[in-house]
Amino acid sequence: MLKTVVLVSGGGTNLQAIFDAIDAGKITNTEISAVISNNANAYALERARKRGVDAVCISPKNFENRDAFNRALLEKVQSYGADLVVLAGCLVVIPKIMVDAFPNRMINIHPSLIPAFCGTGYYGLKVHEAALARGVKVTGATVHFVDDGTDTGPIILQKAVEVRQDDTPEILQRRVMEEAEWRILPQAIDLIANGKVSVVDGQVKICNSSAD
Ligand code: GRF
Repeated sequence: MLKTVVLVSGGGTNLQAIFDAIDAGKITNTEISAVISNNANAYALERARKRGVDAVCISPKNFENRDAFNRALLEKVQSYGADLVVLAGCLVVIPKIMVDAFPNRMINIHPSLIPAFCGTGYYGLKVHEAALARGVKVTGATVHFVDDGTDTGPIILQKAVEVRQDDTPEILQRRVMEEAEWRILPQAIDLIANGKVSVVDGQVKICNSSAD
């Protein structure tokens, strides 16, 4: 069983997609050990509680400085014996001590086709505003391992989504979630849980059958 801790900040629809995929047998060998939010009011915590999964708030506001917060976050994740950390709409800047503790064992979902519309400042609706401003006809989502940079780690899965003429950032965000994020995030977790993902020379290799 892959012990997985999910870090969230908001509504938790990606978290819900993970729970639903476990229930549907689309994610196997995986246990969600805890959901941790920097925001006490995140609805994602409620989704966890409803399911009987530990729901924990660790907010920077409750620590005297960033280092103390970073250490507390890492200790909490490690207290669950996490094999995998999933950033599912997590707005916290992940500290280096966490990246170092989970090399190629922490994944993030980003709502664009990396390397487009990613990096510092590209989060939430801003990503979709930028895509519409540039006039791209295709966008999508990316699941990647987390390294020291912002959205720079090895790419695991990507899925393209059509941009339509009269899209607003909100409409596009919803389509990207429905058609891409909620599919590829659970898919990536299942692949990792079943030992099908490796990183070779900084690139992800996926083995889809026992013959590979
Ligand atoms: C998603 O668009 C995700 O890609 C982005 O923030 C949003 C989180 O949504 N980083 P939710 O909290 O999973 O509903």
